[in-house]
Amino acid sequence: MKIVSIVGARPQFIKESLISKTLEKFGIDEILVHSGQHYDLNMSDIFFKVLEIKNPQYNLGIGSGTHAEQTGKIMIEFEKVLMNEKPALVLVYGDTNTTIGGALTAVKLKIPVAHVEAGLRQEPKDMPEEINRVLTDRISQLKFCPSQKAVENLAMEGIKSGVYFTGDVMLDVFLKFKQNVDMKKVLEKYDLNPKKYVFSTIHRDFNTDVKTRLESILQGLSKIAPRMPVILPIHPRTKKRISEFGLEDLLKKLKVIDPVGYDESVALTSNAFSVVTDSGGLQKESYFAGVAGVVMMKDTGWIELVESGWNVLADADEEKIYHGVFNHPIPSDIDKIYGDGNASEKIVQIIKDMKI
Ligand code: UD1
Ligand code: UDP
Repeated sequence: MKIVSIVGARPQFIKESLISKTLEKFGIDEILVHSGQHYDLNMSDIFFKVLEIKNPQYNLGIGSGTHAEQTGKIMIEFEKVLMNEKPALVLVYGDTNTTIGGALTAVKLKIPVAHVEAGLRQEPKDMPEEINRVLTDRISQLKFCPSQKAVENLAMEGIKSGVYFTGDVMLDVFLKFKQNVDMKKVLEKYDLNPKKYVFSTIHRDFNTDVKTRLESILQGLSKIAPRMPVILPIHPRTKKRISEFGLEDLLKKLKVIDPVGYDESVALTSNAFSVVTDSGGLQKESYFAGVAGVVMMKDTGWIELVESGWNVLADADEEKIYHGVFNHPIPSDIDKIYGDGNASEKIVQIIKDMKI
């Protein structure tokens, strides 16, 4: 069986890393396509190196642009790949423009699509990731859900066939890395002490592209900084907006660094006092690590972590961000909301059993 996987953004490289190795283990031939959505060394290449991902057979080189430009370019270039390779299945991940571009191209060629991380839903309904998720789930034949909540979300939309609760591949990868990363080395590199710093990331367009929200977030982080160092690996989108909005002064109290590789991200998460983020991946990884999370969103696709007390929603509110860090008791045990760490095997077994 030949399948084509398409990835393009940081969190997709992480998921793909393990799925790819599992496909190989199960004897399934995988052609890997990189859309080129993320292209900086520390947004793309570093992940291929650290996660030991094979070189993509195709790089579509689409780069940055508007949503229509990115999605359209992916479709035009990806169609050529699919017509050439004629796979039995296309594998897409998460909720980026690479996800919807890849899925739409495949179904128009009548190639079935499998969606890894299906069924997530959140407000606002017009956020780009939510649009990408809803549409990708609609046109995917196989929907691999990381949580039971995701299965329920799909059922509420009448989507019941081809839906599987597999657990979350991000958990599988996180557990593997946590065992092997040299935590001490990473903390020394950034001059941090265990449980005595806050790890933060910001990249959601609704936070970065609205000046008042970005300002309020940076003020919240700056308020934390005198009590505890705040380390912020800065996403290129956020860096660009801070400069455009003239908010550089609000970075002065923070420890701002370039985006880090996945190994360092796991180390920085695992040893943090608290993780303050609008990242989908990091709000789960803080929970995987048993660390309190403060989520800078009004709502989240990972709502079960808020309901269970691991995460709090602080939106872009300076005070809620500060209090979320210092006044947030967390539960004493970790439920297996996202499976047992073998989601990739479950996913690949289902694909293999499809006999396509
Ligand atoms: C994208 C995804 C988002 C995901 C995130 C992971 C969509 C709609 N959004 O958001 O769901 O959470 O990736 O990080 O697909 N840039 C660079 N270098 C790069 C990549 C981006 O400088 O290597 C800059 C460009 O100015 C670009 C901006 O960042 O315009 C945004 O990049 P883009 O890929 O469009 O969206 P993300 O915010 O990264
Ligand atoms: N991450 C990383 N380096 C960083 C910031 C994040 O390796 O500088 C990892 C993080 O551990 C998580 C993933 O990137 O696994 C999340 O990606 P991102 O926040 O870009 O996207 P999202 O998950 O929100 O779609």
